[in-house]
Amino acid sequence: MAEINQRAKGGKTKSLFITFEGVEGSGKTTQINMLHAHLLRMNVDVVATQEPGGTRIGEEIRRIILDPSFKEIHPMTETILYAADRAQHVYEVIKPALDAGKVVICDRFVDSTLAYQGVARRIGMEGVQNLNEWITDDLYPDLTFLLEVPYRVGLKRVQERKAAFDRLEGEASSFHEQVQEAYRTLAKFFPLRIKVLNGEDKPENIHHAVMQEVNRLLG
Ligand code: TMP
Repeated sequence: MAEINQRAKGGKTKSLFITFEGVEGSGKTTQINMLHAHLLRMNVDVVATQEPGGTRIGEEIRRIILDPSFKEIHPMTETILYAADRAQHVYEVIKPALDAGKVVICDRFVDSTLAYQGVARRIGMEGVQNLNEWITDDLYPDLTFLLEVPYRVGLKRVQERKAAFDRLEGEASSFHEQVQEAYRTLAKFFPLRIKVLNGEDKPENIHHAVMQEVNRLLG
């Protein structure tokens, strides 16, 4: 897997595509809110969004994918549903915002599909990568933050704030362990794009590290 920024090939752009990744309960939402607020204070034109569910259609897809009663969803169906959510999201929200020169912060993107479906669901990294490149027209983030938290710690955090797990959160420990391992592998594959941060550190410290990277790219 070659590490290239396809969008940068097109020429000059002030836009920036930033994604946050991690196991369940890794603290992505807190960091996204902090980054979003910080950029707004700096008068940066910024959009914060999420997958699955960053569009009206995506919200419906999210409801189906995460519904614990749909136990029979095949791994391939699951993969295609995440891909459908992403296609709508990329063409309705992400690309228009990037084309308008905005900063886009996205809660999960291609690395989630590589880790969850490619590895933990055994679809295969290559198949997921090919599908993703086809549906997104080769869009990769400029910068990805991987918040590393042991999956058991993350699940405990989720348990403390929610009445019940969704379909993915409710998977077996071995599933979450594989997702965690897959993220580590991805960080090794893409060392320039993926910045690994300790998700057990204080939120303010993590935010500081995030801002250092983002400021470097914003120039
Ligand atoms: P969230 O709880 O972070 O909003 O994510 C929803 C769930 O969807 C989470 O369990 C991770 C999972 N997911 C995938 O399995 N594949 C994907 O491509 C994406 C975007 C999310």
